[in-house]
Amino acid sequence: MNWNSDIIKSLTWSENIINREGKEKVADEIANKVKSGDVLGIGSGSTSYLALLAIAKKVKAENLQIKAIPTSIEISLTCSELGIPVTTLYENKPDWLFDGADEVDPYNRLIKGRGGAMFKEKLMIRSSPVNYILVDDSKLVKKLGSKFPVPIEVFPQALLEVESKLKQMGATELNLRPAKGKDGPVVTENGNLILDARFGEIGDDLEQRIKSITGVIESGLFIGHNVEILVA
Ligand code: A5P
Repeated sequence: MNWNSDIIKSLTWSENIINREGKEKVADEIANKVKSGDVLGIGSGSTSYLALLAIAKKVKAENLQIKAIPTSIEISLTCSELGIPVTTLYENKPDWLFDGADEVDPYNRLIKGRGGAMFKEKLMIRSSPVNYILVDDSKLVKKLGSKFPVPIEVFPQALLEVESKLKQMGATELNLRPAKGKDGPVVTENGNLILDARFGEIGDDLEQRIKSITGVIESGLFIGHNVEILVA
C-alpha cells in the first residue's frame, strides 16, 4: 500500500539555494557516474540534494536499479519523493559516495556540517571506498576556517566539559548553534547539540584532538580522508 502523502509530494529545499547554477553543473557531472547496481552513499546539504534530483532523472530515463544510503532525514524524505530505494549500512556497503562541503583548502582538507549532519557524513565517508565532494568555486579557500567555523556535535550533558577542553585547545570563539523554527539550540538527528568553534590555526591533528574529548560525537573537520573534489 502507498501513503499517498501530501507532505512527500510538496517537499522542497528548506531555504533558497545559494549558487544554484554552479551546484547544478556539478550535480549533472555526478549523475553521469551512476551505473545500474550501484549502492550510493548520499551526503546532505543543498548540493547533495540537487545531485540527487539529477541522479533521479537519469535513473528514470535509463531505468537504472540503484540503492541509496542517506545521511539525513531530509535526504531520506527526498529519496522517498523521487522513488529511490533506500538501504542502510546494516544491509549494504556503499560503492561510492557524493557529498558537499562548506570549505575546501588547497590540501583537500574540508569543513562540513553547516546542515548538522557531519556525524553520519563522516561515517559514510569512512564506509565508502570512493568519495566525491561536490563544490562550486565559492567553497575553495586558501585557509581552512576563513569563512566557516568548525561544527562540533556534543552530547548535551558534556557541553561545559567540552567547552572548557576546546578553550584549552585554542578555540577563540565558541557558539552554541541556535535553532530556527524551534526555541533554544539546534538538536541534531542524534539528539545532540552543536558548538560552532573558531580556531586561529587548523593543524592537521586538530580533527583527532577534538575527537579525543569525551562528549564529542564528531566534528565537521575532514582532514586526510580519501576524497576527490569536483569543482563546478
Ligand atoms: C551538511 O551537514 C553539510 O556537511 C553540507 O554537505 C555542507 O554544509 C554543504 O552544504 P551545501 O551543499 O548546502 O552548500
